[in-house]
Amino acid sequence: KKKEVEYVIAFSQCVGSDLWRRTMLEEMKMELSLHPGTRLVYRDANNSSNKQIAQVKELLAQDIDLLIISPNEASPLTPIVEQAYNRGIPVIVTDRKTSSSLYTAYVGADNNQIGRMAGEYVANLLKGQGSIIEILGLPGSSPTIERQKGFAQELEKFPGIHVPTQIYGDWLKPRATEALLKFRDRLSGTDLIFAHNDQMASAAKQVLKTLGISNKIKIIGVDALPGQGGGLEMIDSKIINASILYPTGGKEAIATAFQILTKAPFNKENILQSVVIDSSNVKLMKIQWDKVSSQQKDIERQQTVLQEQKALFNNQQVILNITVVT
Ligand code: FRU
Repeated sequence: KKKEVEYVIAFSQCVGSDLWRRTMLEEMKMELSLHPGTRLVYRDANNSSNKQIAQVKELLAQDIDLLIISPNEASPLTPIVEQAYNRGIPVIVTDRKTSSSLYTAYVGADNNQIGRMAGEYVANLLKGQGSIIEILGLPGSSPTIERQKGFAQELEKFPGIHVPTQIYGDWLKPRATEALLKFRDRLSGTDLIFAHNDQMASAAKQVLKTLGISNKIKIIGVDALPGQGGGLEMIDSKIINASILYPTGGKEAIATAFQILTKAPFNKENILQSVVIDSSNVKLMKIQWDKVSSQQKDIERQQTVLQEQKALFNNQQVILNITVVT
């Protein structure tokens, strides 16, 4: 007899509440709907590495077939991820990395490249001349380190551009606001703010608005999410100048999980593509997105109809059986 639950996939998310992570989970659920019989056990560590370690421990004590994890900070999460891997549980690391190569597969964009793309775009926008404030993510999380590195690397080619101020916004809007307000004196000599994500870019815009200097300083972010409050909308309404697309990889993570679980061939490194979005291509991106999400709604509607038909069919079977008996 076939088991009702074929696979249990555990997903340890470093934080679940922001738009980027909610989009990621949606994408995962979409892809999971193609595999009925799979259970997703989801844990949200709410930005705490300690909490995430405890949650992974708890997940490992359960009977799971595979672990997907986006580690809040690289080094604190490394031992527990290595432990899972060494125990023979396949581990997919996604978006943020550990500091180890002991994992089964990685799914995510190249954050170093994102930093370089931002650098190149900024150098063009400033015509090779200017002063930048960089608002970084959480110090210990890998995209912070890689975006910063790539950005600096690219800007080395432009001696007229300087980044005298680097502040940590920990990926969060309130933290970025607080940090930038501390450096408000530097804003008068600043031409551009590069924030490591769009949430912090929107914080920067609000600070500039409050100080009455919002038209003088350009703002670049990362993520470029569709939907309400996302980067695409902010570019379209000129709240920020540009953003680098950072795909969530939710669909790819689940697809890779099934390749691993069914012993199909798979790649260890699955690098997702990025692209710069600004006013020149934001409309196109929005149109593409609307199209995809309307197709998505069609699929969901078809699934509902299918379920209703199934229920109806089962009902008729019951009636048929009753008729035969009496
Ligand atoms: C969402 C987020 C994104 C950022 C990514 C980096 O939680 O902060 O905005 O691109 O995480 O891991």
